[in-house]
Amino acid sequence: MSHDPAAPVLVMGASGKTGRAVTAALVARGLRVRAGVRSDAGARAAYAAGAREMAHVDLVSGVGLAEAAAGCRAIYHLAPNVHPDEVGMATRAVAAARAGGVRRIVFHSVLHPDDHTMPHHLRKAAAEEVVRRSGLAWTMLRPAAYHQNLAEAARGGRLAVPYRLDAPFTNVDLRDVAEVAALVLGSDGAGDHEGQTYDLCGAETLTVSRMAHIASSVLGREVAAARVDPAAWARAQEGRLAPGAIDDLLAMFAAYDRRGFVGSAAALRILLRRAPATWADVLRREALPSPVPDEQSG
Ligand SMILES: NC(=O)c1ccc[n+]([C@@H]2O[C@H](COP(=O)([O-])OP(=O)(O)OC[C@H]3O[C@@H](n4cnc5c(N)ncnc54)[C@H](OP(=O)(O)O)[C@@H]3O)[C@@H](O)[C@H]2O)c1
Repeated sequence: MSHDPAAPVLVMGASGKTGRAVTAALVARGLRVRAGVRSDAGARAAYAAGAREMAHVDLVSGVGLAEAAAGCRAIYHLAPNVHPDEVGMATRAVAAARAGGVRRIVFHSVLHPDDHTMPHHLRKAAAEEVVRRSGLAWTMLRPAAYHQNLAEAARGGRLAVPYRLDAPFTNVDLRDVAEVAALVLGSDGAGDHEGQTYDLCGAETLTVSRMAHIASSVLGREVAAARVDPAAWARAQEGRLAPGAIDDLLAMFAAYDRRGFVGSAAALRILLRRAPATWADVLRREALPSPVPDEQSG
């Protein structure tokens, strides 16, 4: 079993939105990352995030998992969004970890995985259970929706969502989530975070209307908020998303309509030892154009 602090952390989905952020945060903390990728394009994306070691992994077939996990001290496990085989993926990741002598697993779950109105959340809850029963030293991270999901749309001037504009959200900065991943995995040996489950939410409760208002002010131009008809949204996704994924997301939008998606920022504040980033902070960082270098300053 690898206790070597210099042994790599295997990051699943390292080419994706979350995996790239986690990879960058781990590398910034001086941790060695082995990026779990599916293709050369994925390897390039993980490389751009800072990974220098690649392992080709398919979480559906399990191909490459054993080789990827061997010699790692931890796995940062995540599944692709609304994947029907989330539980199978967690089962295969755990089996590879155990066979490869990996000591720890951090599972990227979601806020309120036990919400029975959202089938893909219940799959996360079942995957958590696989991880809890794995015999590995585990930590669960349960992020709220990321601010980044709407930052690109804000840049485009229109937040169009298939749920009500006055539903409350405590969205979180993905970079804060990744920082927590790095501090949890950087503390190997102390055991502080083992057996812990953390809700990771931002400290502001905002509606999409309010987010548009704030974005208008930060970006200095009009950002509109619009409610899209969920049925029209679903028709537009046909052929782009699997039918099951469309159904899962429609259930999620209906849940958002009923009660939004809110949780507590307490754990994130304690873990980061600072206030979580706000929506305005994320917009300033990610939706404003980069400053043009001043020629005079050379
Ligand atoms: N977005 C949010 O607000 C939010 C909030 C809380 C939790 N989450 C959770 O975060 C997780 C990741 O979401 P994301 O937005 O980062 O997803 P994403 O950008 O779509 O990334 C998914 C990653 O999974 C990889 N992947 C897909 N199929 C695979 C397979 N068969 N085997 C191995 N890897 C595979 C993809 O690789 P390729 O590049 O090759 O496709 C990609 O690297 C999801 O479980 C989601 O529920 C998201």
